[in-house]
Amino acid sequence: MEFDLAQTDHLLLTTKQIRKRMDMSRAVPRETLLECIDIASRAPMGSNVERNKWLIVDDADLKMAIAELYRKNAEPYFAQSEDLPADDVSERVVSSARYLSDHMHEVPAMVIPLRLDRVEGWPSGDVSGWYGSVLPGVWSFQMALRSRGIGSCWTTLHLGSEAEVGQLLGIPDTVTQVAMLPVGYYTGDSFSVTKRRPAADITFINKWGDKASNA
Ligand SMILES: Cc1cc2nc3c(=O)[nH]c(=O)nc-3n(C[C@H](O)[C@H](O)[C@H](O)COP(=O)(O)O)c2cc1C
Repeated sequence: MEFDLAQTDHLLLTTKQIRKRMDMSRAVPRETLLECIDIASRAPMGSNVERNKWLIVDDADLKMAIAELYRKNAEPYFAQSEDLPADDVSERVVSSARYLSDHMHEVPAMVIPLRLDRVEGWPSGDVSGWYGSVLPGVWSFQMALRSRGIGSCWTTLHLGSEAEVGQLLGIPDTVTQVAMLPVGYYTGDSFSVTKRRPAADITFINKWGDKASNA
């Protein structure tokens, strides 16, 4: 089967982090989330060992409790960002992140990707293999959602209260929460491509420092 590059590149380039454009009033069916998790679970895993779990939270009281913990951790981040030199990009990110934080309890669902074990004190190669076995699936999950008109935002701020959230949701303390994705249908579909430095400027050929743009 030949891929339609225009379509696959569009998906890769425009799977954005959705905050202000999340439709808080439209529920996301659990079956759709499970379908996307099924796709995401095909992402690569070190030694092909399946030790990942997912937790969907759509109960209003639990969402409120998690949102409050999220906001507790987000506040110092927002306070700190007020001291940063303002540019267009950081202002937009902070304004959008603040919006999501303020509305976090309203999101249709929160999805927490989990992996068995804790990595404290592990050698960096093991940590890399461990995270590398769970995070590719999170991105696949975001793209599977996007293909269905559903947006999500990769967040980590609640992890400052990981233990409290774990207690609320009955997650054993031997399990790691790696992110928390608020999920909801997005409104409009005019997503711009994120501005980044060109590949030739960030890629070296054969030796550190020998930029592809100089080759
Ligand atoms: C590892 C990771 C952690 C992030 N944590 C948060 C977070 O806690 N809250 C938040 O609003 N956005 C968070 N983001 C989103 C980023 O702030 C940023 O908006 C995003 O990477 C740029 O997305 P864009 O492609 O939509 O421009 C996180 C992204 C990543 C990859």
